Amino acid sequence: MDLERARVMVTGGAGFLGRFVQQRLRTAGCAQILAPRSSECDLRERAQIDAYLSRTRPDAVVHLAAIVGGIGANQASPGRFLYENAIMGLELMEMARRHGVKKVLVTGTICSYPKITRVPFNEDDLWLGYPEETNAPYGLAKKLVMVQGEAYRRQYGLAVVNLLLVNLYGPGDNFSPDSSHVIPALIKKCVEAKRRGSDHVEVWGDGTATREFLYVRDAADAIVTALAAYDKEAPMNVGSGMEISIKDLVEKIASLVGFTGEIRWDTTKPNGQPRRLVDSGRVHREIGWSATTSFDQGLGETIAWYVESTDGDQRVPAGRPR
Ligand SMILES: NC(=O)c1ccc[n+]([C@@H]2O[C@H](COP(=O)([O-])OP(=O)(O)OC[C@H]3O[C@@H](n4cnc5c(N)ncnc54)[C@H](OP(=O)(O)O)[C@@H]3O)[C@@H](O)[C@H]2O)c1
Repeated sequence: MDLERARVMVTGGAGFLGRFVQQRLRTAGCAQILAPRSSECDLRERAQIDAYLSRTRPDAVVHLAAIVGGIGANQASPGRFLYENAIMGLELMEMARRHGVKKVLVTGTICSYPKITRVPFNEDDLWLGYPEETNAPYGLAKKLVMVQGEAYRRQYGLAVVNLLLVNLYGPGDNFSPDSSHVIPALIKKCVEAKRRGSDHVEVWGDGTATREFLYVRDAADAIVTALAAYDKEAPMNVGSGMEISIKDLVEKIASLVGFTGEIRWDTTKPNGQPRRLVDSGRVHREIGWSATTSFDQGLGETIAWYVESTDGDQRVPAGRPR
């Protein structure tokens, strides 16, 4: 797809990943970017999508809009995570094909993988089991939209591309205690504990679970590269190739932040999936993409952003669209 000529709609374009995707589209020469807020086009409402697409006529849609969050948010609202993520994708893709959109890129998630699966996760193993219980409604809703993309490609010839992203992190992430992912949650805990002079922080689980993290700018790069250059049914993992235990992650963040107190593990809280690391061989082979930001560099930039953006109270950093 020629991005310099295309009109590209980015759903969730004001979100954490969406702002980086818009930036990356601009550097790719895309001059016509549409990024409606949910107040302008609520993707749960077919009539609103219909009216928006009739009015704006995009060539491509990058579907990022979603209800996302860490284990706590997923456990608190499983029904909402399932319904809203499924209905947004289903309605958007159906309306996109009816309005003659040429290409749809869907951002799926590592949470769609079976709980027990060989590591690194391979796209061919996606259907070998049920996802980890704490995030299954979210992971399955996203997986349904992935199947919709495959079905629409086969029946209607709609060019749908599915990417499966690992956990993202970076400047501008969601630091709200109710819904943040693990990296912003830990940064906030350590920075605030240091500011208060507290002698400890509490962390969910026992620290043994592992995660793979991808810097948000690298994720945006993969998305825009795939939008331009990939047009096949097969979903592609998008990861960085690093794996770290939560215990090592907390220690790394505490050290970068300068927090020297005790780390107390709340083992009454779940660990989530035991290990997470994807095989990103396919995305590398198909479009030549691989992550370029080292974990230390990305983490340092994220911490610096959070420290500069907050003044020590419990506010979510200014500019965070929540
Ligand atoms: N963050 C991660 O670690 C991660 C990992 C894997 C995959 N992903 C995927 O990446 C995508 C982006 O995630 P993110 O972290 O950037 O999320 P985010 O910051 O929470 O942004 C999500 C956006 O979705 C929009 N949205 C929510 N409900 C909507 C509705 N009913 N109608 C229209 N728009 C709606 C919101 O728009 P408004 O602000 O206008 O309300 C919001 O800006 C998601 O699809 C997510 O599943 C993220």
